[in-house]
Amino acid sequence: LPLSVPPPECLQKRFVAPQRHMFGPGPSNVPLRILAAGAEPIIGHMHPEMFEIMSDIKSGIQYAFQTQNKVTLAVSGTGHAAMECALFNVLEPGEGFLAAVNGIWGERAADIAERIGARVNTIVTSAGGCFTNEDIDQALAKHKPVLFFLTHGESSTGVLHPLDGIGEICHKHNCLFLVDCVASMGGAPIYMDKQGIDILYSGSQKVLNAPPGTAPISFSERACQKVFNRKTKPVSFLLDMSWLANYWGCDGKLTRIYHHTGPVSNFYSLREGLAVLAEQGLENTWQRHREVAEYFHEGLENMGLKLFVKDKNIRLPTVTTIVAPAGYNWKEITSYIMKTHNLEISGGLGPSVGQVLRVGLMGCNSSKASVDMVLKALRDALKHCHKSKV
Ligand code: GLV
Repeated sequence: LPLSVPPPECLQKRFVAPQRHMFGPGPSNVPLRILAAGAEPIIGHMHPEMFEIMSDIKSGIQYAFQTQNKVTLAVSGTGHAAMECALFNVLEPGEGFLAAVNGIWGERAADIAERIGARVNTIVTSAGGCFTNEDIDQALAKHKPVLFFLTHGESSTGVLHPLDGIGEICHKHNCLFLVDCVASMGGAPIYMDKQGIDILYSGSQKVLNAPPGTAPISFSERACQKVFNRKTKPVSFLLDMSWLANYWGCDGKLTRIYHHTGPVSNFYSLREGLAVLAEQGLENTWQRHREVAEYFHEGLENMGLKLFVKDKNIRLPTVTTIVAPAGYNWKEITSYIMKTHNLEISGGLGPSVGQVLRVGLMGCNSSKASVDMVLKALRDALKHCHKSKV
């Protein structure tokens, strides 16, 4: 038969991606070393060398999360896939779920849990705020969920949520503690085992400076008891931990069975991102992110801009939220900076839309030189963007 759809002309031109300063909330810039790792030749997703790479990734995640958990791996997908993996595997229809909502990620977790048919409750606080351990204790006593969700690094509001003591509170209520550290891992201290976190997940495209598409996740022994003794199968085959634990060699079985084709090149890059973190050292990386963030915050305040998170102690070092300057259209500012300075910063997300500008300085982008570049671009934008006479 003759073809009715000709080869698209657009595909006959070579695509060249622009070089940009990726200072939004992610993805962040990928250094050459990590890009080069991703350009290594493709091998089979079940070749022995691949299993070795996966084992290295597992060790790297155990280091980044500070955990000894056997069931530690990278989901083939972004942080959202890891969020679904956690919720799909732990929750069964009708079971209680409580989400702490102080930004978009708690809202998303509640939405996903509803789709599974869980009994969903939320505790909500204003964007820019966080919860006390007493708030959480009371909500757990009231709703009696089997799983509690909290975001460590709320990239939509710029809040770093304290974690100490919450694991014990959850366990006192016979509840598992699930934490999202997509935007904070590597940029702020987290100790999965010591803080009693049962399920922790992150993403490759933030502090690790790897391309989007893989998401570290880990399950405690307590979480595994629940996950591997379910009455029903998780709704997703791709994210089923019984299969994934086998593919990643976490289930103690000698034979690995084909489940899905892992994103080979992305695993190479993730391994390299974790290698950089291991070389630089977690504590040094945490400290650098904190110092760079403080330098940035001081620079913003010296320019007369206001930080959205009032309490210094809960500011996320990786993603800064700046109160959208009065009289300006925030979209004009972000577009001007992109066009004139080839630099991405972003507006708000979820509950912070229209209220903030967001700047992410993560991994290799966490430097005083990057801060100076952002401050210069902001100063320039405030001079050149239209200001209404209010
Ligand atoms: C995505 O992670 C975002 O915060 O925009």
